[in-house]
Amino acid sequence: MMMFTYSLLASVFFCTGLSVKSIYPCDKHMFLSNVHICSSLFNKSMETSGHHERCTWPAVKRIYNQLKLCVDLWAKKSLCLSRGSLVDDFFQEVHREYFASCGQVQDPPLPTMILLIAPGIIATLFLPLLCIKLTTWNIEMPNTLGL
Ligand SMILES: *[C@@H]1O[C@H](CO)[C@@H](O)[C@H](O)[C@H]1NC(C)=O
Repeated sequence: MMMFTYSLLASVFFCTGLSVKSIYPCDKHMFLSNVHICSSLFNKSMETSGHHERCTWPAVKRIYNQLKLCVDLWAKKSLCLSRGSLVDDFFQEVHREYFASCGQVQDPPLPTMILLIAPGIIATLFLPLLCIKLTTWNIEMPNTLGL
């Protein structure tokens, strides 16, 4: 009888737990207002970082991770974690605002390019010659040794 009561209680809690989740799937207001607090701290720290001029990426990694922890925490608490788009939208906005100068991969200057490419070209041109030299050297070796 005791067992039965326990399992009944457990299933009641389980069901109400589920229904709480489905009645309030994601408290968007709770999420946004708390994320606003997370980001105001982050924004304040970023103001002095000079992100308009240059990419600040590895330097601000620590405060960025704090922002991420804060946002993830509130996504969980407001049951919005499954609504990935909310979190994604937020970080896209942050990246657009603060890491705009990070994404562009620029070609290195011409002398560097030549230095990078030249060994490949030289190897391609001279490898056949080297092969011919090596193979003929093997054939000629007995002659040079006088055998
Ligand atoms: C912080 O900056 C982000 C990106 O521009 C913006 O979406 C957010 O509203 C800002 N937060 C505050 C509190 O100003």
